[in-house]
Amino acid sequence: MENYKLFINGEFVDAADKKTFESIDPGTEQPIATIAQAGKADAEAAIAAARKAFDSGVWSNLTPVARMAKMQDFADQIAQQGLRLAATECMDSGQIMGLAKFGPLLGIGLLRNLSLAAATKFPWEEEIPISGNVFAPGRDFIRREPIGVCVGIIPWNFPMSMAFWKIAPALIMGNTIVLKPASYTSLSALIIAEAAKAAGIPDGVVNVIAGPGGELGKTLCTHPAVDKIAFTGSTEVGREIMRMASETVKKVTLELGGKSANIILDDADMDLAVEGACFGTFFHQGQICESGTRVLVSAKIYDKFLDKMKKRAEALRIGYQMDPNSHMGPLVSKQQLATVERYVKIGKDEGAELITGGKRVEVQGIKGGYYYAPTIFAKVNNKMRIAQEEIFGPVVCVIKFASDEEAIAIANDSIYGLGGGVFSSNIARAERVARGVRTGTMWINNYHIFADFCPFGGYKQSGVGRELGLPGLHEYTQVKRIHVAAIADHKANMTFQLMSDYKKVDGFSYNCPTNVVAGHGALSAIYKAMADLKCRRALILTDPGVRKAGLADLVKDALVDFCVGIYDKIPADPDLASVDAATEAARKLAADCIVSVGGGSVIDAAKGVCVTLKNGGKANDHLNLLVLTEPQTPHISIPTTAGTGSEVTNAAVLTSTGAGRKLFIVDTRIMPNVAILDPRFTITMPKGLTVATAMDALTHAIEAMTSTMANKICDGQALQAIRLINENLPLVTADGKNEKARLNMQIAATLAGWAFTIAQVGLAHGMAHTVGILHHVPHGAACGIVLPKVMRYNVDHAADKLALVAQALGVDIAGMKEREAALAAADAVEALMKKVGHPMRLREVGVQEENLPICAFHAIADTAVLFNGRPVNNPNEVLELYKQAY
Ligand SMILES: NC(=O)c1ccc[n+]([C@@H]2O[C@H](COP(=O)([O-])OP(=O)(O)OC[C@H]3O[C@@H](n4cnc5c(N)ncnc54)[C@H](O)[C@@H]3O)[C@@H](O)[C@H]2O)c1
Repeated sequence: MENYKLFINGEFVDAADKKTFESIDPGTEQPIATIAQAGKADAEAAIAAARKAFDSGVWSNLTPVARMAKMQDFADQIAQQGLRLAATECMDSGQIMGLAKFGPLLGIGLLRNLSLAAATKFPWEEEIPISGNVFAPGRDFIRREPIGVCVGIIPWNFPMSMAFWKIAPALIMGNTIVLKPASYTSLSALIIAEAAKAAGIPDGVVNVIAGPGGELGKTLCTHPAVDKIAFTGSTEVGREIMRMASETVKKVTLELGGKSANIILDDADMDLAVEGACFGTFFHQGQICESGTRVLVSAKIYDKFLDKMKKRAEALRIGYQMDPNSHMGPLVSKQQLATVERYVKIGKDEGAELITGGKRVEVQGIKGGYYYAPTIFAKVNNKMRIAQEEIFGPVVCVIKFASDEEAIAIANDSIYGLGGGVFSSNIARAERVARGVRTGTMWINNYHIFADFCPFGGYKQSGVGRELGLPGLHEYTQVKRIHVAAIADHKANMTFQLMSDYKKVDGFSYNCPTNVVAGHGALSAIYKAMADLKCRRALILTDPGVRKAGLADLVKDALVDFCVGIYDKIPADPDLASVDAATEAARKLAADCIVSVGGGSVIDAAKGVCVTLKNGGKANDHLNLLVLTEPQTPHISIPTTAGTGSEVTNAAVLTSTGAGRKLFIVDTRIMPNVAILDPRFTITMPKGLTVATAMDALTHAIEAMTSTMANKICDGQALQAIRLINENLPLVTADGKNEKARLNMQIAATLAGWAFTIAQVGLAHGMAHTVGILHHVPHGAACGIVLPKVMRYNVDHAADKLALVAQALGVDIAGMKEREAALAAADAVEALMKKVGHPMRLREVGVQEENLPICAFHAIADTAVLFNGRPVNNPNEVLELYKQAY
């Protein structure tokens, strides 16, 4: 009789208290080996060894490729031990030789396949191209790192395979392990430990300790130095392990019990289905967690099927597990035999019909052994205990069903969800049934088939997590996110600003790629723009007003044969449905370029169309910030108002009826490729629109300068925009046909658009957005009315900038203090508004006084307000500003 010892820290050792126990051959009831019986001290020693090995980095710091090389050596050692492993497993566990001989082969495959996958396919490090946090620019990436010390606790049904299932992924992913085999079947795991040692796996990386569960299990599952428990066994013990592991919040994966349904549809190949039902249940004496122990059979074939299944079960040969003729060997232990006998009695008492088996079997020439006949219960109701509780023996319940739906319902009427099967000659039908069953694995026209790259695990109370395949490897790592800030400057950090007084940023990143072509006749550049963009099918997007002014047709003529149509149904403040309709038109015409001819409404709708055309779906799918990773459908924009700057900005403002407000797509990749500023397109603007849109542009420019994101490039753009507006707005209001002044206004709007794209805006925009949504006040008009009030509100936070604004507005600030000059800027804005006949009060544009408090509450939460130079946290202050503007 052989003596086996514990494997701790690379050495085979006796138990600290020298205790041993015997392993019994279940086919003869004879002892075959003595094994050192681990106690608490041994478990602690094994954990300490695993901890030390992990923390030293001797294994965890190896590259996956280096670990793969070691795992290949390990696999070679298993190959050398193959016959010994198989024979020992066979005698120790009662597995028939035909099955046990595959154990080493499967183990070798697992070690090699999974280590290769970890070295070549596993995503150890992954860039996150878009973080989804627009306030924290930088690089974000994921690292997957080993968890640490893993404990594997495995059952007695497949001792060798389960040892590989725990050791292989733990080691391959860089962890160390303490493995505890079931006390009935410890031998193969200890031989595997010998192979690990011979392969030169560093000391402490693999530890195997044998002994009964209770005390050992408690030590392993509660020890603070253990990071993860991977358990395979009964649901009852799984619950207890989870409970114990919760004390120190260990990661837990559990592969637990099952009561899987093997569904035989009426169109199944009868011989195949009978074979599948018997193999699914009686293989390895039914001691397999995913066994199909509830055979659900269509009422149409029930009698015939049952008859055939009974005959097949009775033909199975039960014998000593080493006898090559045996189909079935003994149960693993006396206790398991008693459990099976108890359940057979329960089944009979519950009224199920025992049609074969239900008794022990004596094997000729052998005294003793835990042999039991394949047992079939018919007339089983799914509510019976034999249909609900896991028996773990060769006992099957055959249950009748009337329809596929009923079969799925019965299959799902279980606390378990581990395996299952469907037999049918119609694969589509079988797949529908397979999808309906809530379980971790479904086999169609097959059963008990495993593969290294196919994950295995349970739904419901059958487990947590998955083993095998890439999902199984993930279970042995944890995820670390690393963020590297784009700008290492405390003043530039938008999040830190929440807790600091620094509101001005020196560093910035500037990216405004639109090609701007400006001047009288700039429209003729469109033909070359199309060629440069490699486009041949332009769809013109416009609105009815602009169409009526003849501007869209002007563009059509310039495009010559590059134009596939004019779509003129874009409404003002476009909603998502109008973007979808325009997208549909573009799809139908196979447009490869969008040419927007209109104000901000048309250009923004066109941006939405370009994103939706490129990415599919509907406009609503793309209301996101900074998520685009590729160029969008090419877009040439021709603004017909001089206000929003949308022809160069990174924003599309779209009305969502679902949200009841305007939402955004914001992304550098939606900036139009080309913007054509041709004064012929704004000359037709009526005076009111000219003034209101100019105030939009002026507000963009001034708020860009006073925002927390203001920077030197944007300041330059904004100041030039302010100068141009101050000089040219009176000219265009006096004479709408003044082409030069019109062009200057267009350039001002574009400059202001660029400025606020990078530098953002502020409180005036937040207040204008709010009265726009709640009172339908045109954006530019609302901006103009509140702008001077907001400038005065910001004066102590942006006096330097506002003094520059005053100069740009033509104020002679010589001799003025900075603050005085800043206040003069606000006065100058009001003077300009008066001069050009802009409304001065909110009451003039339809706002009701009683609504001002609600506006104040809304405005404070507007995104634009986040960037206001002076922090805005008090709605009463905003209400005061609204009152001043009223
Ligand atoms: N994307 C951005 O960066 C950005 C910035 C600010 C505002 N916006 C959005 O832009 C929209 C406002 O745009 P807008 O102010 O340019 O107005 P608009 O595009 O809504 O046009 C207003 C009206 O003026 C008419 N019109 C436009 N140009 C004309 C012309 N040359 N001759 C005669 N009629 C003409 C149109 O037919 C329309 O009826 C709002 O929805 C706003 O939310 C976008």
